[in-house]
Amino acid sequence: MSERFNPTSPAITAIAPSNIAFVKYWGKRDVEKQWPANDSVSMTLSASKTITTARRNLTAFDSFQMNGMTVTSKDLPEHKVFRHLNRVRDHLKLSGHLDLKSSNTFPMGCGIASSASGFAALTLASAAVLTDAQSWEDLAAYGANRETLAHLARLGSGSACRSFFGGFTRWSAGASPDMQKITQDFTPQHWNLADIIVVLSAEEKLVSSSQAHLAAWGSPFFPARLAGLDHRLKLVHQAIKSRDLEALGSELESDAIEMHSVAMTGSPQVNYFSPATTKFLAWVRTQRNLGELPAWFTIDAGPNVHLICDAKHAEAIVRLVKNAWSKASVIIDCVGEGPRFFRGEMEKDHV
Ligand code: PMV
Repeated sequence: MSERFNPTSPAITAIAPSNIAFVKYWGKRDVEKQWPANDSVSMTLSASKTITTARRNLTAFDSFQMNGMTVTSKDLPEHKVFRHLNRVRDHLKLSGHLDLKSSNTFPMGCGIASSASGFAALTLASAAVLTDAQSWEDLAAYGANRETLAHLARLGSGSACRSFFGGFTRWSAGASPDMQKITQDFTPQHWNLADIIVVLSAEEKLVSSSQAHLAAWGSPFFPARLAGLDHRLKLVHQAIKSRDLEALGSELESDAIEMHSVAMTGSPQVNYFSPATTKFLAWVRTQRNLGELPAWFTIDAGPNVHLICDAKHAEAIVRLVKNAWSKASVIIDCVGEGPRFFRGEMEKDHV
């Protein structure tokens, strides 16, 4: 491992967005190589982000601070953050230990994929500080261009790879683990969609998505889901291309229900829905049939619901939701740009 240790190198801050999948990544063909069972497509978000500051330290250990808690690789060498730092160092063939400080612009465990933005920000901040990079070009010169970093991030959390591009992103499984691709299908400017995140329950989920991905293979419905996905991916691509929200909405609802049916019938069974989730979906369908709610739902690995709509309808939809669901909290997000990084610490005007 080559030594390029500069103890005085400045801190680097990376800001990475979360994303919401329209066609879900569910199930892995190869766990070690993080090879997904299917292609997935997502919209990168704008407001829901992780901010991670990385700086070198002179000790033999890494540290990670989040929500006022600090852990070190001395005490917890198997912590997912430290295992990921080892991957980044191995890939770059660089050494040096880091202090990391992370925060989210959104509450954790609320149905926003914090692992997507978290691993994207972690990968970018640590790669930039280890290489002393000031730009994407500097990173590319180290063999760490955007797509390579996205591939590194997916080894921490699959969905994190899609957060490396703004707008609408595709993670293609390819014919073998090393033929996976992460590409931007459409820029954020292509379509101004909003994601209204309705937090029905802020409780932490009992089963992690990593465990649930494995359980999918036990579901009798999983082969049927996989067999239909090529067609769905084409329909979703066409719907985004032609900005056809009804066509997109119908596919994204089917995809979410299908993913959760596979989870509920997997081995072991995993049920992310709460009673409130089911009631809320029925309400969405009724309101939409009445012509009051031009929005379509999707649900990740949790009980909370994302309503995808045209950004111009977002405020009216939020009012409607708040009137009918006074106990729910609502976060408004929309399509956003990919991650960025800069030298120094986070200042207020950087978000
Ligand atoms: O990246 P993971 O392992 O947290 O899995 C993500 C799974 C879903 O969020 C449910 C779907 C997706 O594609 O983001």
